[in-house]
Amino acid sequence: MYPHPRHVPDPVSIYDDLVLPPEGEPPGDRPYVAANMVSTLDGRATAAGRVHEIGSDLDHRLMRKVRAAVDAVLRGAGTVRSNPKYPGVPPEDVVLRRRKGLADQPRLVILSRSLDLPWDSRLVGDAPERPIVFTGEEAGAARLAEARRHAEVHVFPGDQVPIRQALSLLRSRYGIRSVLCEGGPTVNWLLLEAGCLDEYFWTAAPKFSGGPDDLATVEGPRPLGLVRFQLVSAFVHEDELFLRYRRAAGPSR
Ligand SMILES: NC(=O)c1ccc[n+]([C@@H]2O[C@H](COP(=O)([O-])OP(=O)(O)OC[C@H]3O[C@@H](n4cnc5c(N)ncnc54)[C@H](OP(=O)(O)O)[C@@H]3O)[C@@H](O)[C@H]2O)c1
Repeated sequence: MYPHPRHVPDPVSIYDDLVLPPEGEPPGDRPYVAANMVSTLDGRATAAGRVHEIGSDLDHRLMRKVRAAVDAVLRGAGTVRSNPKYPGVPPEDVVLRRRKGLADQPRLVILSRSLDLPWDSRLVGDAPERPIVFTGEEAGAARLAEARRHAEVHVFPGDQVPIRQALSLLRSRYGIRSVLCEGGPTVNWLLLEAGCLDEYFWTAAPKFSGGPDDLATVEGPRPLGLVRFQLVSAFVHEDELFLRYRRAAGPSR
């Protein structure tokens, strides 16, 4: 039986009772990982290089509601550079977080090879705790020293952060049980490729972009081989669809 798209009188509340992970314990030694993306009908995550205009005000509000269900928000450096703000929740959602036994605000986690990050911004100033940054060895001493002034930095050998190991560290070192990845497409690919994406919240905005340079919701160097997800819930509001998918049972991919 598949969920049918539902109209609800108060769409702002659709994720108020969201609990992640949905069934008690996270999988194995890592946190439960969800991603949240909005795209156009042609699957673009950016329109003329920008994201803000794709989703509606309701989409922007629901993004914060999903945030209110997790210990940490993960963002790739590309997304951080394009929107250098701390991804917190508004005061009214702090109540939801407390009800779910979470800290008042999520911990920010950033993935960056270059450590070229906008430290003089609301990214750090508005964050109640120091962000956690995962990087490799290629950033250079000056950028590393600068990052360490603002964040807890974990350096992995080589130039690539092994995402599964980084997630395990979040669980073992920080007790983080749930992570919401807010993009971008490159980090989404990394999570899918590592078999570490458990849920996908997708807003299908009733718009086309068609921009040849705009990004898809998932961007990577190789095909993923069709990773299967199943629909958990679907809501509709003014032509916009709010969909929640969970990775289908079966092989780890
Ligand atoms: N539609 C939506 O819902 C949505 C959501 C989020 C973002 N976006 C848009 O997507 C765009 C950004 O996406 P993006 O794909 O270019 O960037 P991204 O996924 O946000 O970040 C990519 C960056 O993450 C770092 N990284 C990736 N893999 C790594 C690894 N294995 N080890 C270490 N670092 C790694 C690198 O940082 P360095 O470059 O620092 O080395 C890389 O350039 C923006 O325009 C943003 O507005 C849209």
